[in-house]
Amino acid sequence: MSLLFSPLKIGQLTLPNRFVCSATYEGMADASGRVSDALIQRYVQLVRGDVGLAITGHMFVHRSGRAMPFQTGIHQDDTIPGLKQLTTAVHAAGGRIVFQLSHAGRQTTKKMAGQRPWAPSAIGRGPGQFRQAAGHDQ
Ligand SMILES: Cc1cc2nc3c(=O)[nH]c(=O)nc-3n(C[C@H](O)[C@H](O)[C@H](O)COP(=O)(O)O)c2cc1C
Repeated sequence: MSLLFSPLKIGQLTLPNRFVCSATYEGMADASGRVSDALIQRYVQLVRGDVGLAITGHMFVHRSGRAMPFQTGIHQDDTIPGLKQLTTAVHAAGGRIVFQLSHAGRQTTKKMAGQRPWAPSAIGRGPGQFRQAAGHDQ
């Protein structure tokens, strides 16, 4: 058997194989950031396709740090049931999942963050590849 398909232990986490899906913003949560069925299906399909470890797209930890529309949130208690459903589904399919946490800092807009963005300095947002897709220019 190829080494790629053999289990790997990282600390207390045992991965079923060596295939890792790097963090990729999905834009598949609902408008307030809660996990959707489509998002769960996305990760289940990846695991069924032999992704041993899926790292989610960045999840905003506070509403002020939301960078993108339909970004998954891990910012308030009512997101927990959906997030739990996501991990349970991935585990049931035999995979492992890591949530990537983020706060957009200056890399967002008032519209996206629902308030004036919070950042360590007063420097404005830098150019970003998702600028138009995210509706930042509107
Ligand atoms: C559509 C898209 C969304 C991405 N979202 C994230 C993300 O949420 N978090 C992150 O750390 N990297 C993100 N990345 C970067 C990827 O995880 C990956 O590191 C990168 O695409 C690999 O480099 P390459 O695109 O130059 O091959 C994203 C990349 C793309 C293309």
